[in-house]
Amino acid sequence: NYWTLDRLGRLYKDWDPQVLTDLSAQVAKSKWRPGYHITTKTGLLNDPNGFSYFNGQWHLFNQAFPYGAVHGLKSWQHNVSDDLIHWRVVDKPMVPDIYSDRNGCYSGSAINVDDKLFIMYTGNTFEGSEFTRHPYQDGAWMDADNNIEKLAEPLIADSPSGVTGHFRDPQIIKHDDYYYAFIGAQTVDNTGEILTYRSRQVDSGWELYKKLDLGTDNLGYMAECPNVGFVDGKVVVIFCPQGADKAAFHYDNVHPNAYIIADELDFSAMKLVNPSPMQQLDEGFDYYATQLLNAPDGRLLSVGWIGLPDTEYLSDQDGWEGELSMVRELHISNGSLVQSPVNELETIIDDTPATANDLQRLITAAPLASQFSLYLDSTDSYLHLAYDESDRQWTLVRKNVGEEAVTRSFQGDPSSLSIYLDNSVFEIFINGGKVTMTGQFFHDGKSIQVSTTSMDIKQKKIQNM
Ligand code: FRU
Repeated sequence: NYWTLDRLGRLYKDWDPQVLTDLSAQVAKSKWRPGYHITTKTGLLNDPNGFSYFNGQWHLFNQAFPYGAVHGLKSWQHNVSDDLIHWRVVDKPMVPDIYSDRNGCYSGSAINVDDKLFIMYTGNTFEGSEFTRHPYQDGAWMDADNNIEKLAEPLIADSPSGVTGHFRDPQIIKHDDYYYAFIGAQTVDNTGEILTYRSRQVDSGWELYKKLDLGTDNLGYMAECPNVGFVDGKVVVIFCPQGADKAAFHYDNVHPNAYIIADELDFSAMKLVNPSPMQQLDEGFDYYATQLLNAPDGRLLSVGWIGLPDTEYLSDQDGWEGELSMVRELHISNGSLVQSPVNELETIIDDTPATANDLQRLITAAPLASQFSLYLDSTDSYLHLAYDESDRQWTLVRKNVGEEAVTRSFQGDPSSLSIYLDNSVFEIFINGGKVTMTGQFFHDGKSIQVSTTSMDIKQKKIQNM
């Protein structure tokens, strides 16, 4: 096996640069590269990190391992944008290079403080021959030239008592006189929870505050990537409850991304007021680790990883894996979350009809019928979406080249549909975004035939960027 512990954990400065050159050549031959979704040039992408608006630009980092399509030593790739659509990679990644992040710069968030951006992230370390996890919550300042300077000392040097080494993914927000960090945790009794810490200064003085009371304890054995956002007079909490009990919360993916809406967050009790039941954030095949940003322009924005932990993808054999979703704007309507692509996306939709292999948007041209289907077919692979009014069931079946077909379904109305296709990536927005289905479709790479029964669609081209 090529992926020995030595290679998985090797510091970036110790890799032979030729490895990246060779890998780039391999990636260039892949038939599945997206045109506008953020991905890594080579290797693996996972969680979005540090989503922020700073110094007149949008900043969006992501977990990356450039040396292969595996979960090796993680760094932060840095992407910037003027419009949330056209992203450019800044060639100053945050890589593991201090004691307290030596086995990975894991996920975290960023917040504007004066004229700098403050980053709080999990430094992953393994100790001893048993590779016991010892997480640190580390800090760093980024200046207007995108130079990142890590703090010499961790902000939080250990898991609190009663919590295992699974303690990570801080999201910082400011409320009244305090900065609060929401951190995913696993108790020694093997249950997931979200803990909060707080401090009056962002770069020191962090103390354990309270456990976040979500109104449910069905957080499985570990709650990853907690995020809190505020919109439409409500609060939404998004997190990944690994191993959540399926009897109480249905999901089909190996690990779910979930949300809870509440009337407010009572910071003094650290408790959600009138929380909704836990719901699935996305009904598709690959969506995880979603991060929120309450943007200075008032919008609540989200971005997720189009991929899942503990999963192999066909693109791995081409030397790369994973994308970030398009940035979405979130609202709350009748107690549910509504997700839609940000308006800025309209600037890259052409009026010209798309041809089969363009990046494209498929959108319903007329009200949906009580029964319909949409087929995207290539040789030995397909993506089929259908609705049947008899049981109000939406069904999405995906057959990747060389794999068995898999299905995701949910019950709902048929009111509208728009689909964004970016080569192997799809994001489906159903009923104005009340439901989304996101994932990857590994087709034969030649041509995809689009056909429908009982429905009219318009196919529009998305400018390739
Ligand atoms: C979620 C996650 C985080 C962790 C990061 C490591 O996908 O496992 O909990 O910080 O990925 O890459």
